[in-house]
Amino acid sequence: RPTLRGAAPSNVRIGTAVDSRLLETDPRYRSTLAADFNAVTPEYVMKWAALEPTPGRYDWEAADRLVAFAEANGQAVYGHALVWHSSVPAWVSESWSPARLREVLHKHITTVVSRYRGKVWAWDVVNEALAENGSLRQSIWLRKLGPGYLADAFRWAHEADPDARLFINDYGTEGRTKKADALWRLVRQLRSQGVPVQGVGFQSHLRADQDPTDIAGNLRRFGALGVAVAVTELDVRLQLPATPEKLVGQALLYQHVLEACLAVPTCESFTLWGFTDASSWVTYHYPGYGAACVFDTDLKPKPAHASLIAELRER
Ligand code: G3I
Repeated sequence: RPTLRGAAPSNVRIGTAVDSRLLETDPRYRSTLAADFNAVTPEYVMKWAALEPTPGRYDWEAADRLVAFAEANGQAVYGHALVWHSSVPAWVSESWSPARLREVLHKHITTVVSRYRGKVWAWDVVNEALAENGSLRQSIWLRKLGPGYLADAFRWAHEADPDARLFINDYGTEGRTKKADALWRLVRQLRSQGVPVQGVGFQSHLRADQDPTDIAGNLRRFGALGVAVAVTELDVRLQLPATPEKLVGQALLYQHVLEACLAVPTCESFTLWGFTDASSWVTYHYPGYGAACVFDTDLKPKPAHASLIAELRER
């Protein structure tokens, strides 16, 4: 059957988030992953809570297995995510002193990025730094370390792997939104301070009936700051039940996002947040919505798979 990877020009990274449990247990999942994608992102296993469940005792196994799979299948690895308010290990306490928290964060970033130096082409250094209104998100890091944690995180990651492309990643910033404007100002400010923010990731968790405004124009204005851009976590949820008409609408929005990425020279990768409806966070997170991926629960390609291939072939 035609594959996304087969249709992609050699310089286009077509990636997906990977569910490590299915990678380990489902041969059809593995073969589809290898056939259709030339890039992978760990959906969970490189998050801090997964890597260091107890202080100083790292569990690298699942992350190493994904990196090995990617290397065996000629796939680039996108590291996700070094600093994220949602995956701080339970043992990291907000009652600690700022100095201790800063040191713990420094050690985490340095340890993880050093281990995968040369194996990971890009990192989500800070994920979801902004609140919905565009102000800096009130996280343990902002509360205890102040806004300087952003520059620290990028500088520490750059020291550990000067060749990795360092991204700031967020959602609700795909079109021309207030949050996107705030992200644009934040990236411009950090770069004016010499902070190595080298890429901006647009998660793109979308609803089939809500097309973001002017995605290409938005990606372009970030590119004009001198950074790479990437679609990092694309899925397009449908209000269930999925009907043929809804699946066509979904396919059109998938195609529209890919078209925008391909139209912007600095768009370096286009990544889906999972590829099968059998494993999608949407099911648990948005009751009444689902069917968000390009393969169905039985790993059969959906119209969105064909629309992405058609878009890739136009290049
Ligand atoms: O497998 C572990 C198990 O070993 C562990 O004992 C248990 C205890 O928490 O958790 C199990 O892991 C689950 C993990 O998914 C693997 O399936 C976690 O409970 C669960 O919270 C985790 O959810 C992920 C979520 O991020 C939080 O990390 C979702 O799969 C993942 O799709 C979602 O992805 C996020 C991106 O990282 C950032 N952008 C938004 C996106 C959607 O929320």
